Amino acid sequence: MLLVQTLTCALLLRAAGRTEGESRRNLVQRNVNIFKGIIPHLVKYSPNTVLMIVSNPVDILTYVAWKISKLPHERVIGSGTNLDTARFHFLISEKMNIAANNVHGWIIGEHGDASVPVWSGVNIAGVNLKSLNPAMGTDADPEKWSELHKTVVNSAYEVIKKKGYTSWAIGLSVANMALTLLRNQKNVHAISVLAKGYHGIEEDVFLSLPSVLGAHGVISVIKQTLDESEMKQLQSCARTMHEIQETLVF
Ligand SMILES: NC(=O)c1ccc[n+]([C@@H]2O[C@H](COP(=O)([O-])OP(=O)(O)OC[C@H]3O[C@@H](n4cnc5c(N)ncnc54)[C@H](O)[C@@H]3O)[C@@H](O)[C@H]2O)c1
Repeated sequence: MLLVQTLTCALLLRAAGRTEGESRRNLVQRNVNIFKGIIPHLVKYSPNTVLMIVSNPVDILTYVAWKISKLPHERVIGSGTNLDTARFHFLISEKMNIAANNVHGWIIGEHGDASVPVWSGVNIAGVNLKSLNPAMGTDADPEKWSELHKTVVNSAYEVIKKKGYTSWAIGLSVANMALTLLRNQKNVHAISVLAKGYHGIEEDVFLSLPSVLGAHGVISVIKQTLDESEMKQLQSCARTMHEIQETLVF
């Protein structure tokens, strides 16, 4: 288990992975037990810390870290869909032949298979791509944009198949967030934050939403304009997270 701690920022990167035949739910409980052994000590000796959780399932474990640490929710974040969003930008940029940093679009919600691509907001220089192609992201789309999201979702499986593990991309993604925290840069990242109160979410769950990050954690969450389908997908993520959380023993 790799544990990096700085004055203001503690990164919990590694925790147990699934063993053969082990359910995701059992892994969650095993990782809850590991967190119970670590987090109270971290918070005791570094009470002003910001916790950044990377271990999977990252949204659930960020909630668990918040509960165990008893820190204000602004100081407990999960790496969430920061990496998914970066991969999304890269794939859009390849399709459009435009540099990735000029592509604007977000993947929000649960990190992984059920993540939500916000097709309604993808734009380049303020030009909304969905207004040019209303079928964007749907099965009826002749340009097949939805394939890009499938590629994002499958990329970790693909890397594991070819290399056996994932490390570089998540490492760069976490380093990028750590720089924002350490330098108080106030960049907007898609990170797992307490999502209650946003987009009709009523449960105490952590899901990725674009959030402004500074030296003390989350400064604010950007309330995007989502279409109905995006909102429903996000609310469905919230219900799933909540159901799993209800089964956990602290
Ligand atoms: N959020 C993301 O995008 C992302 C990306 C990659 C990996 N991850 C997650 O990071 C975690 C680690 O992944 P990895 O590839 O580094 O796995 P890994 O198997 O290489 O490392 C896991 C480490 O945890 C240690 N460990 C296991 N049980 C322990 C226990 N009870 N007490 C203390 N240490 C224990 C192991 O010895 C090992 O060093 C996983 O949960 C993985 O899903 C998240």
